[in-house]
Order: sequence, then structure tokens, then C-alpha cells
Amino acid sequence: MKAEKPEIIVTGDGSKTLYLPVMNEHYHSSHGAIAESKHIFIDAGFKAMRGKACSLTILEMGFGTGLNALMTFLEARQSGKEKGKIHYVAAEAFPVEKELWTQLDYPVRFSDGDAGDIFVKMHECPWDLPFFISDDFVLNKLKADFSDLEFKDGSFDLVYFDAFAPDLQPELWSEEIFKRVFSAMRPGGVLVTYSAKGSVKRALQMAGFVVEGLPGPKGKREITRAVRPSVH
Ligand SMILES: C[S@@+](CC[C@H](N)C(=O)[O-])C[C@H]1O[C@@H](n2cnc3c(N)ncnc32)[C@H](O)[C@@H]1O
Repeated sequence: MKAEKPEIIVTGDGSKTLYLPVMNEHYHSSHGAIAESKHIFIDAGFKAMRGKACSLTILEMGFGTGLNALMTFLEARQSGKEKGKIHYVAAEAFPVEKELWTQLDYPVRFSDGDAGDIFVKMHECPWDLPFFISDDFVLNKLKADFSDLEFKDGSFDLVYFDAFAPDLQPELWSEEIFKRVFSAMRPGGVLVTYSAKGSVKRALQMAGFVVEGLPGPKGKREITRAVRPSVH
């Protein structure tokens, strides 16, 4: 995949996203960027795991605009310090340029007065080093092609799989990649993604996940949640 300069567009819920004209691909659903992120990654992923573990280690495939990271930070803080710390690892091969992320309106769409500072910190913190966004939230952005990354077995509780569409990047939605993600997850860990394509679900199953379809956000019938089964 080649890097291409994205354009900014406004989605159905009024929040902005990036659009790649040559690929005809959006970074988020055109029906609502914030609505999609909340429905899939926060509600079906983060909230489902938050009560179970004291601290959570999260892996995001595709940091992009930083929307999922920002929303996870805000949700984690709202759900309470006593629920534990967050270690958030995000891979990104084509970082979004400052000229673009500064035009995204995400921070003002949340009531947290410091959301803008958090968003800037998330974008401006160094790559390839763990960085304390707050005492309870460490962000480690990895500037790399996801296919080249190797993770220690059993590192992650939760995976946000947010690559471009399977038709555009079939190599990332493959059994081989999902097997690596499976090994990198702890037993009982959860992967969430917007794609409910049959081939994606089959690749996840072949990699060892137990796969379920959940109702999607506006404009999408179904999304996928996959669990690495616990060892008995
Ligand atoms: C659908 S967008 C989602 C972005 C992000 N989660 C967000 O909320 O803005 C997919 C992201 O994956 C990144 N990406 C695509 N191929 C990649 C690869 N091979 N390795 C790492 N990142 C990749 C893209 O640059 C883009 O930022």
C-alpha cells in the first residue's frame, strides 16, 4: 500500500474523518466517525474488558487520527482510577500529518476540558517509546508496518483491529496475521473490528478465535468480536 494524502470530510454525526480519494476509503464510517468508534471499540471492546482486568494492555492496528486512543483515554478516566491503568500500543505505518490532525474537531466534541491537550500530547509524543499521557495511561506508538511487528506472547488483553478494508489490504486480514495477534493476546482477551466479512471471520476462526457477530453502528448491520479462549 502506498501513502496518499487524505482529505478531511464531515461524517453523518457531524464529526470529521479522513478520506483517501484514490483508494476511495474513509478512516471511519461516513455515517459517523465518533459514533462508530464508540460503538465498536469503546462499547463492544473496552467496556466489555474494563471490568474484568485490573489494568488493561491494548493493541491498536492503525493509530491514524488518534480518535480511538483519545476516546479510550476519556472512557478509562471516567470509569475510575481504581479500575486500573491502561497501556496502549498503537501501530501506524503512515502517520497523519500535523496539518491534518490539527483540523480534526474531536476534542471539542467531548465535555472534558483537557481533551484538546490530551489529543495534542497523543500526536506529539515520540514514536517507538512508551510515553505517560497521564499517570494512568501510557501510549506507545509504533511507527511500523503491522506485518513486520513481533509481540511477546500473551501481551494484550484487548485488540482494536482497525486496518483499511479487507478488499484493500487482504494481507492484513489474513489467517497468518490473526495467528500472530492471537499469540500476542492473553487467554480471555478480546479483539474487536468493524468488518463482518465472511472471509475475515473464517480467518479469525482458523487462527483459533471464538467469533461472534454483534449489531453494528448506523449504516452497518454487523461487526465482529473475537475472543481468545481461556485455557482450562
Ligand atoms: C481505517 S484507518 C483507522 C485509523 C484509526 N484507528 C483512527 O481512528 O483514525 C486505518 C489505519 O491503518 C493504517 N495502516 C494501514 N496499513 C498499515 C500497516 N500495514 N501497518 C500499520 N498501519 C497501517 C493507516 O495508515 C490508517 O491510519
